[in-house]
Amino acid sequence: MAPRRKKIYEGKAKVLYEGPEPGTLVQYFKDDATAFNAQKKDVIEGKGVLNNRLSEYFMTGLTNIGVPNHFIKRLNMREQLIRQVEIVPLEVIVRNFAAGSIAKRLGMEEGTPLPRPIVEYSYKNDDLGDPLVPEEYIIAFGWASQQDLDDIVALALRVNDFLTGVFYGVGIKLVDFKIEIGRVWDGDFMRLIVADEISPDSCRLWDVKTGQKLDKDVFRRDLGSLTDAYTEVAKRLGVLPTNTQPIKPTLIN
Ligand code: TMP
Repeated sequence: MAPRRKKIYEGKAKVLYEGPEPGTLVQYFKDDATAFNAQKKDVIEGKGVLNNRLSEYFMTGLTNIGVPNHFIKRLNMREQLIRQVEIVPLEVIVRNFAAGSIAKRLGMEEGTPLPRPIVEYSYKNDDLGDPLVPEEYIIAFGWASQQDLDDIVALALRVNDFLTGVFYGVGIKLVDFKIEIGRVWDGDFMRLIVADEISPDSCRLWDVKTGQKLDKDVFRRDLGSLTDAYTEVAKRLGVLPTNTQPIKPTLIN
């Protein structure tokens, strides 16, 4: 039997285990879905498998255009090898169209185009419900420096341009998304890289023609099958073969 690996961290949708070499971790994608700070919960069979594949796809694309990120390689259906980072305690949100919390906060109709991409930050703290925070707080409390924030905005906008194009190519509008950023050190030199995951759990994705939602809002708002929505995204991107039934964990590797 393989030795039990040391669990480093367990979040709502993923588990991190010690990796095979120093500076690496194994990221395991669970089937658990949560919303509204885990007040709503379910297990969606196959979600972890889809998100493992989709995050691999986007992170590999980012690597290929020169955007640094934590992905090293996929290990199996549910696991990928990643670089260990020190997570910046922020959710970095980029919005192209009004939806979700900004639409509510400002009384905007969902789908209204924004005059330019808006980057905003939530402080990663489940007890507080990830509150929206201004740059002023981030710098004052030392979560990131002004230079870090300049680098984070540059990274976030590159990710936005990349994802917008990739999704548009398969008839999907990228309404908004969230990324997380990690610090890595090369000796004394610190760099910021894209970490965590990029998947329909952390994006809003609407079909360009019909407006159909293909992201976690399907779960948040009880709009149908989340697996069907994520499978549709994966099929369009060619991450899954077309003509297959909604994915079951055993069918893919
Ligand atoms: P919001 O409109 O609820 O603020 O969400 C903005 C984007 O961030 C949306 O694509 C969903 C994503 N998001 C997460 O990935 N995790 C979260 O905890 C929240 C609240 C949003």
